[in-house]
Amino acid sequence: MQILVLHGPNLNLLGTREPAVYGSTTLDQINAELAKIAADAGAKLESFQSNHEGALIDRVQAARLDGTDFVIINPGAFTHTSVALRDAFAGVAIPFIEVHLSNVHRREPFRHHSYFSDLAEGVIVGLGADGYRLALGHALKRGPKA
Ligand code: DQA
Repeated sequence: MQILVLHGPNLNLLGTREPAVYGSTTLDQINAELAKIAADAGAKLESFQSNHEGALIDRVQAARLDGTDFVIINPGAFTHTSVALRDAFAGVAIPFIEVHLSNVHRREPFRHHSYFSDLAEGVIVGLGADGYRLALGHALKRGPKA
């Protein structure tokens, strides 16, 4: 079972970025915890963060060929803007869960629309770093693609 965790723009600043909204856990802490949970379950997990739309698209395209069974993604602000990253997911047809640390539906109206939610297997919002753990739990339970 191979899982890819993708983090979009500004999520490298977690820990110091608007902690009242996004919490005080750093991205490294989140990634390390997810890697441990996956390893304990005998799965492989890779994390990738980029502030660049094209780099995220390239990584999703590469996932089609590198054995990735499942993707967990927080697209950050690209959630609300990126038709191109959405099209990459439609193109590779790898199942994914969309995660947001904050409850985007309780925030500004421009955060209420996602280009990803209708393609996603599931969406988790507002549960902070727990959202990633819950998504990973689902991916591990689901198992590798047939
Ligand atoms: C976010 C919500 C987005 O609206 C925002 O642009 C982010 C983080 C979240 O995790 O709550 O960068 O995806």
